Amino acid sequence: MSSELAPTRLSRDEIASRIEALGPWFHNIDLAGVETAPGHFLGDYPAVKWRHFWHAVAPAIAGRSVLDIGCNAGFYSIAARRAGAARVLGIDTDPDYLAQARFAAEVCGLDLEYRQLSVYDVATLGERFDVVLFLGVLYHLRHPLLALDLIHEHVAGDLLVYQSMQRGSAEAAPVEPDYGFWATDHFDHPGYPKLHFIEHAYSGDQTNWWAPNRACSEAMLRSAGFAIAAHPEDEIFICRRLAAPAGVGAVYPARGPR
Ligand SMILES: C[S@@+](CC[C@H](N)C(=O)[O-])C[C@H]1O[C@@H](n2cnc3c(N)ncnc32)[C@H](O)[C@@H]1O
Repeated sequence: MSSELAPTRLSRDEIASRIEALGPWFHNIDLAGVETAPGHFLGDYPAVKWRHFWHAVAPAIAGRSVLDIGCNAGFYSIAARRAGAARVLGIDTDPDYLAQARFAAEVCGLDLEYRQLSVYDVATLGERFDVVLFLGVLYHLRHPLLALDLIHEHVAGDLLVYQSMQRGSAEAAPVEPDYGFWATDHFDHPGYPKLHFIEHAYSGDQTNWWAPNRACSEAMLRSAGFAIAAHPEDEIFICRRLAAPAGVGAVYPARGPR
């Protein structure tokens, strides 16, 4: 199926007023010369992040199926389709962001599919995708490891592209298979996996629940059954789904018998 649909017939003024009506936008996307979020607090976001890692993702996408979890206004769904993905499905819990995503796809003339669905409900999709994008969502979830387990169990076919806001040390110390009960020093090592809990808000955003350090991102990915294949940017991990689940029944119990 071609990714190209008929180009939009909307004028620049019509596009600008639809963008205004659908706002506020988190994704800054250039829609026929009109930017959706030119005043973003992170700059030209997410293009400023995308340009540091997409070169490592794009070659794996051509001709493949892509699931974009937490797609927001579809910046990465659009990028995946333009990289030649055979099919792209974007899911998000927020209907306002999905309305933005549908409008952006229409203006770009791209064949993209969007559904309102939580990462916790990916089992209902009933299919696996060659590439799963899980970008900027983990730290917005109250149950982040459950989300990774569910992705592994139900939708990840081959590659998982993960990104999280990370705080704390960028060091990742080796994790031993076990520690004695009286061994406690490693918990205070900066490179030990740590998931910082945000009880109230961070950066004025009450949906920021957790901030892993780098070691924690890596450890959670391994624990959920993903092997880290590449780390092209500080917060980005490109992972391969391992054939064997991390435990017996990836969701519960999380650990299998020895
Ligand atoms: C920080 S934005 C990241 C958007 C995009 N993936 C990116 O990296 O730029 C987080 C997105 O996750 C969505 N989200 C939050 N909880 C979710 C859930 N349980 N399931 C799916 N999406 C969720 C939000 O609505 C929002 O669009």
